[in-house]
Parts: sequence; structure tokens; C-alpha cells
Amino acid sequence: MEAVVVMMVVLGLCHGVETYCDGRQNGAQCYGALGGTVDVQLMDRASDIHKYQWIKDQRVILDGRKNQILFNHIENRSLFTPSNGTFSINNLSRNDGGEYQLDIYDANGYRSEERTLNLIIQGVETYCDGRQNEAQCYGALGGTVDVQLMDRASDVHKYQWIKDQRTILDGRKDQILTNLTDQRYFFTPSNGTFRINNLSRNDSGEYQLELYDSEGKNKKRTLHLTIQAPVGSVLLLSECLSEGQMRASCSSEGGDSPQYSWTLDGHTLTHAELLSGNNETNNITLKQHVSGRLLCSVRNQVNNVSKEETISPCKDQMDMKFKETKH
Ligand SMILES: *[C@@H]1O[C@H](CO)[C@@H](O)[C@H](O)[C@H]1NC(C)=O
Ligand SMILES: *[C@@H]1O[C@H](CO)[C@@H](O)[C@H](O)[C@H]1NC(C)=O
Ligand SMILES: *[C@@H]1O[C@H](CO)[C@@H](O)[C@H](O)[C@H]1NC(C)=O
Ligand SMILES: *[C@@H]1O[C@H](CO)[C@@H](O)[C@H](O)[C@H]1NC(C)=O
Ligand SMILES: *[C@@H]1O[C@H](CO)[C@@H](O)[C@H](O)[C@H]1NC(C)=O
Ligand SMILES: *[C@@H]1O[C@H](CO)[C@@H](O)[C@H](O)[C@H]1NC(C)=O
Ligand SMILES: *[C@@H]1O[C@H](CO)[C@@H](O)[C@H](O)[C@H]1NC(C)=O
Ligand SMILES: *[C@@H]1O[C@H](CO)[C@@H](O)[C@H](O)[C@H]1NC(C)=O
Ligand SMILES: *[C@@H]1O[C@H](CO)[C@@H](O)[C@H](O)[C@H]1NC(C)=O
Ligand SMILES: *[C@@H]1O[C@H](CO)[C@@H](O)[C@H](O)[C@H]1NC(C)=O
Repeated sequence: MEAVVVMMVVLGLCHGVETYCDGRQNGAQCYGALGGTVDVQLMDRASDIHKYQWIKDQRVILDGRKNQILFNHIENRSLFTPSNGTFSINNLSRNDGGEYQLDIYDANGYRSEERTLNLIIQGVETYCDGRQNEAQCYGALGGTVDVQLMDRASDVHKYQWIKDQRTILDGRKDQILTNLTDQRYFFTPSNGTFRINNLSRNDSGEYQLELYDSEGKNKKRTLHLTIQAPVGSVLLLSECLSEGQMRASCSSEGGDSPQYSWTLDGHTLTHAELLSGNNETNNITLKQHVSGRLLCSVRNQVNNVSKEETISPCKDQMDMKFKETKH
């Protein structure tokens, strides 16, 4: 028997940061993370409701009659569970933000209730200390970066921040002289922090800061900003090999430069548990008899997402399967 016998495949899909929101109250305020998942509870049970429609921007997102889903506009990245009235939306984008309205109809076709909720999509935020020369900063695509340029602008006689020969910021103490050229830019003189929202790949590159004292002497600092797409979702697959070892592979979607790490019941994998691979490769093989909570984390410089599976020894699974087959 040389062929690898695949005994069991455990498949799990996890979508970024997951948030829950109770939309059973009118006027609920809900938050979702960009690229993440939001679980919006629309009602207790759909079976209690004759007819309902969930609407955004005059467009019907979900249309149902009791437990029956007639239409789901975002079917390929969402799931409505009638038994608990929860609508889960994956891979959130900024376009998902806004006001949603739930219309509930009674058996006579009259609208008996109307509820709204506001969904706010938040991007990934990173901080970077640019008070050191040659700082390496990271920002998430679509996210926000706060770059601390100085302690307090009031201490600095004159300063300029330049990228690609373009002056982004020109100030004298607390006074900002340039009109910030981009609507995504904000500078807070009191803490010397420059914020850039909705980062694009174009924001990557080298930035030059020039600081002048009252005698006109200047200091120069550079910082390098790298924009990375955040890690979106993690997929963890495990399968038993013929000898009773377990192969586990972890993959991620969306993230630039993903780095992998594994833990079992919260500790780093040991030589006693690992047959091949190591704690930083995306594919590993575990020895026989290994069991517990296996967790794969994927991270880059801007975020991290993990996925956990409880694994039982392959040998037990094979014995079980063997018994089932004999049965
Ligand atoms: C999901 O549906 C939208 C519109 O219905 C479509 O544009 C998009 O390509 C689909 N995505 C996938 C992964 O199927
Ligand atoms: C609703 O049911 C689905 C499917 O069983 C489950 O994934 C989800 O966590 C449940 N949500 C709530 C709020 O109970
Ligand atoms: C998530 O949505 C973006 C557009 O908003 C799309 O480009 C991307 O393919 C989607 N990813 C997945 C895993 O569906
Ligand atoms: C900034 O813009 C405002 C109006 O948009 C204008 O009145 C002001 O002169 C501008 N200041 C500079 C320094 O360009
Ligand atoms: C600087 O101040 C702004 C505005 O109050 C605030 O949003 C930001 O978090 C502050 N940043 C730091 C690093 O303290
Ligand atoms: C963010 O920037 C992209 C282009 O990089 C643009 O298409 C999008 O409309 C912007 N979003 C917001 C909320 O400003
Ligand atoms: C990125 O930069 C290029 C060239 O400088 C420019 O043509 C393009 O419009 C920029 N895109 C965004 C989203 O700012
Ligand atoms: C992997 O294991 C090595 C040696 O035990 C350790 O130094 C390293 O920090 C681990 N890496 C991660 C991502 O846990
Ligand atoms: C990990 O395994 C997957 C399939 O399980 C394969 O596609 C991928 O190439 C493997 N990666 C490495 C680095 O061996
Ligand atoms: C993962 O991200 C969380 C915030 O979402 C952060 O608290 C944690 O320190 C990060 N872990 C690693 C290993 O980067």
C-alpha cells in the first residue's frame, strides 16, 4: 500500500475579523472590519415572520418568506440562517457600509414593522514612529496609517514633509501653511501625528522630513512606507496519511507577504510532534497520535488572521472508519 489514503478532510474557512451585531433593535449601529465578516442578527427566527426584505440603497439584498429564502443579492459571500435570523456577510468592502432597512410584512401583506441599522466598515490602522531616521513603516491597503513625525509641532520652528518632490505638509509650529493636498491627509499639531486614510499602493515610497530651528539650522529624516494588502481569510486543511500521520496545510487569501505560524494547544510545535515542516512553513506533517487544538496564524506587517481546528489522532479516526466499513 504505497498510495496515500486520505481518510478525512477537515475544511475550515475563516474570514478576517468577525464581528456580531444585534440588528433586532431599530437604529442599531454595527461595525465590520474591511475584508472581515459581520454577523447581523435581523430577527429571532425567520419562521415567525411571514415576509421580510432587507434593503440597502433601494436594492433588495435579502428576500424571504418564513424559512424560505427567495433571493439573496450577495449570495456568493453571505449566508442567511433562518433558524437564528442571522445574516453573515464575508469579505466586507467599504461599499457594504451604509444604512440598511428591514421591512417586515404580516400575513395580509401589510408592512407591520420597519427597522434600520447603520453598518460602519473600519479599515486596518497602523502606527509608525517617524521620529527616528530611516524608520520603516507599514500601512494596510484601504486602511489608515498614523505617522508620528515629531512630539509636538509647537516645538518645531518650521517643518516640511516631502514625497517625490511634492510637499505634503508645510508648517510653522502649530500653524499648517499648506492646504493638505489630499482629502485623505490629516495633521494633528498637538501630537505631531500625520494620518493618511484609505491607503493605496501609490502611498508606498520614501518620505523626507525637514525640521528647522529658529536659527535656520535643519535636520533631515527619511522614512519608508510600505503598503501591504491585509490578510483576508485563512484556510486550514488536514488529512490523515496511510501511516497515521496527519498532514496539515494552511493558506491565506489576500495578504501580501504572508508569514505562517502554528501552535498546538497554545504552544509551539515540538520535534516530538512534527514529522516534517516547521512552525513557520505553511504545510506540516504531524506524527501519529498527535491531537489537540491546532492553530494556524497568518500574519504580515499589517494584520494577522488565524484558524483553529480540533484534531484527533489519525489512528483513532482510521480505527473508527475501519469499524464503520466492517459494520
Ligand atoms: C459574486 O457575485 C458578484 C455579483 O453578483 C460577482 O461580480 C462576483 O464575481 C462574484 N464573486 C465570486 C467569487 O463568485
Ligand atoms: C446562527 O446559526 C449559524 C449556523 O448554524 C451559526 O454559524 C451562527 O453562529 C448562528 N448565529 C447566532 C447569532 O446564533
Ligand atoms: C473580496 O472582495 C474584493 C472586492 O471588494 C475582491 O476583489 C476579492 O476577490 C474578494 N475576495 C474574496 C475571497 O472573495
Ligand atoms: C487653502 O484653501 C483655501 C480655500 O480652499 C484658500 O482660501 C486658501 O488661500 C488656501 N491656502 C493656501 C496656503 O493655499
Ligand atoms: C493625535 O491626535 C489625534 C487627534 O486628537 C488622535 O486622533 C490621534 O490618535 C493622536 N495620535 C497619537 C499618536 O497620540
Ligand atoms: C479609496 O481609494 C480608492 C482608490 O485607491 C477609491 O476608489 C475609493 O473610492 C476610496 N474610498 C474612499 C472611501 O474614499
Ligand atoms: C497612482 O499614481 C499614478 C502615477 O503617479 C497615477 O496615475 C494614479 O492616478 C495614482 N492612483 C491613485 C489611486 O492615486
Ligand atoms: C519557530 O520555532 C523557533 C525555534 O523553536 C523559534 O525561535 C521561532 O520563534 C518560532 N517561530 C514562530 C513564528 O513561532
Ligand atoms: C502546500 O500544500 C498545498 C496543497 O495542499 C500545495 O498546493 C502547496 O504547493 C504546498 N506548499 C508548499 C510550500 O509546499
Ligand atoms: C494579531 O492581531 C491582534 C489584533 O487584531 C493583535 O492584538 C496581536 O498582537 C496580533 N498578533 C500577532 C502575532 O501579530
